[in-house]
Amino acid sequence: MTKTTAFSRVTPSRVATMALGTLLLSGTVSGLDLDIQVASTPTCGCCGAWIEHLEDEGFNVTAYQVDHAQLNDIKAGLGITPGLASCHTAVIGDYFIEGHVHANEIRALVGEGPDARGLTVPGMPISSPGMEMGDQRDAYETLLVTHDGETVVFETHNQ
Ligand code: CU
Ligand code: CU
Repeated sequence: MTKTTAFSRVTPSRVATMALGTLLLSGTVSGLDLDIQVASTPTCGCCGAWIEHLEDEGFNVTAYQVDHAQLNDIKAGLGITPGLASCHTAVIGDYFIEGHVHANEIRALVGEGPDARGLTVPGMPISSPGMEMGDQRDAYETLLVTHDGETVVFETHNQ
């Protein structure tokens, strides 16, 4: 199943708008395509906070609201196993982005272009983007998931 197919069964709930200055900045300075599709369930507050983080960082977000069964189908279609899963699932280019991954890491992924399926922050560690809770900091890792399902540490946080 292709990633496009994974998202084709649902329709966007909204198309995020982006300030023109941000558009010009992302287009001319980074040279990266920062169009990202995000699927989440309607009751997920931290998913909305993560989308705001991406928009603040100049990403062009298309958000899809799906039910849990659809979200699980999307994850399965992308090869995201339960142990690698979080609350929301996104696709940028040929990569998936699972959970509360920082915008800088997504830019690094797209810029470096490794041969892999995508990035994940499994679970929902406190202090990851969209999961801020005062001064609390969870130690966590952002993992690169390879095509054979192996994981490689892409970034460590608070360790
Ligand atoms: Cu979350
Ligand atoms: Cu989420």
